[in-house]
Formats: sequence, C-alpha cells, structure tokens
Amino acid sequence: MKGIKIFSPATVANLVCGFDVIGLALDSPKDEIFLYKSKNPGIRINRIYGTSLPNDPKRNVAFVALQFLLKKYKEKQKFDNEEKIGFEIELIKNIQPGSGIGSSAASAAGIVFGANILLGNPFSSIQLIRFAMEGERVASGTAHADNVAPAIMGGLTLVRSYKPLDITKLHTPNELWVSIIHPQIEVKTSDAREILKQKILMTDAIKQWGNVGALVSGLYREDYELISRSLEDVIVEPIRAMLIPAFYELKIKCKEIGALGGGISGSGPSVFMLSKGNYTAKKVTEVMNRVYSPLRVDYKTYTSPINKRGVKWVKIL
Ligand code: HSE
Repeated sequence: MKGIKIFSPATVANLVCGFDVIGLALDSPKDEIFLYKSKNPGIRINRIYGTSLPNDPKRNVAFVALQFLLKKYKEKQKFDNEEKIGFEIELIKNIQPGSGIGSSAASAAGIVFGANILLGNPFSSIQLIRFAMEGERVASGTAHADNVAPAIMGGLTLVRSYKPLDITKLHTPNELWVSIIHPQIEVKTSDAREILKQKILMTDAIKQWGNVGALVSGLYREDYELISRSLEDVIVEPIRAMLIPAFYELKIKCKEIGALGGGISGSGPSVFMLSKGNYTAKKVTEVMNRVYSPLRVDYKTYTSPINKRGVKWVKIL
C-alpha cells in the first residue's frame, strides 16, 4: 500500500463540565487527508487547501505528530540507518484553524491514524492518541487529549488520567445531536488557558465533579433530562464567557427552543448545544443564526450527529 485517503472529524472538547477530560466527535465538518508512504526519508507537506498553516514544520501539528510516530516506529523496529522511510502529505482543511472544534486535533489524529495503517498497524489507539497529543502541544502549549481522543476513538471519550494516560470510550445516546456556531473571531487556546485560575474553591469542585459523574451516568442511561441538568460549568465557563460575543444570550435562547444545554466548544470561539433529535438540533442551529445575524461578526453554523467511529480511511491510493 502506497497511499491512503482519510476523513478526520471535528471534535467538541470539555462538554461543559469536563474540562480537559471529556470530548466528542462530530460527523461534520471533517478534514480530508491524503498520505503517501515514500522511500525518500523525511516528512513533506506538499499542499494545504482551505487555509494557511505554519510553513515551519516544527510548528505544524501534522508534521510534529507524524515525526513523533516515526521516531517511536524506528525505536520499535530497531531500524538500521540504511532503511529509508518518509511521508508525503496533502491536507484539505474543512475545519478552520482556531475555530475551537478541534482543527489541530483533526490534522494530528488523521495523520497518525493513516501512517499507522501504511506501516502495518504497529500502534494501538492509545499510542496514536499519545502521538497526536504532541501535535496539540505545538498548537496550544499543552498536550491535552480531549480532542484527539474522540477524533481517534470516535463517539464520546473520557480521559480518566493523563499520567499514566488512561482513556475510556463512553456510551453515545442514539438521539444526541450537536449544533455549533463558529464566530469568525480569534481566540487562541493558549490565551484562553492563560486566563484560567490555577486554584479553585472546594465548593466549586464539588459541583463540578457532581456534574461530570451525572453526565456520564446520563449518557449511559440515555437520560436526556439528566444530561441536560449536568451541562453546567462553574469553573471555566464563567471566566471564558467574556471572550465570546452574545454567549449568554445564545445559551438562553437555544435552551428556550429545546436544547438540552451546551457551552463553549473547547477553548472557543465556537459554541455548541446538545439536543435530543435532529429536528430540535436544526431549530437550535436556526436560533444560533438569529442571535448572530444582527451582530457585526461573521459566523458559520453546523448541525451534526455524533460520529461514533471517529477518524477513518476512505480510499487506498
Ligand atoms: N480542553 C482544552 C481547553 C481544549 O479547553 O483548553 C482546547 O481545544
């Protein structure tokens, strides 16, 4: 096998109460990645469509994640120096960088997933997540896993622990849909993390872990009322909300029309809402449009079911 085409999904990290630990994968939007194995050593990003990304390879998440995988592959195979291996990459970025719906994670997850197949599947999903996290470190300054884990594993995921890395896939209720609004403003993840407090009150921690536990229970029981009650964040959202125009108006109006709840997608600027069923989710997306259309901010909206499979290959090249 010489090459492979991959679809890599957008993701929503945090899911309101699960800062840095919970995430989900979306059906759309998704990036398309063409990856070719080559006998010329090195990694070459030949074309990027849809956006401009850093030319400096050390700052490109796909490059860094793949370089990390190759290093581990060579250690694993105990390569002699004569053996040559390289990759050529083309990226079609449908997920806009800086959107808060896991653009960097989609690149990193897609690349390591594709390379693993082209190399004969030497690595497990958890190892691929580890490599993709190195891409996240370049993009945001921290190697968080709440976007790359759902991108690779699909559905909803929970990071129980970062050291050691312990990630589990959660149940996806069948009728859970997601509405997203992406205001076209810049919120850097590193800045959105910088403004957070490093210490929190015990009373807030108690509320937060109550909500995380109840959210997980609600997902397994497909109890949409419990999911709705659990979508509350008393730690991160109150600080980050100021970064997003009309954030509270969005939340109130979307819930009035039937959304279960929602909040900032990852570090923003996108805002997401969960709904039971496609019909309500589309109405929620319409409300998002109505709230934003009078504002002087360009935006895009999406309505998507949860992507239970995650990153996938679609064609052998
Ligand atoms: N959990 C991360 C954050 C996700 O909220 O900073 C960034 O995409």
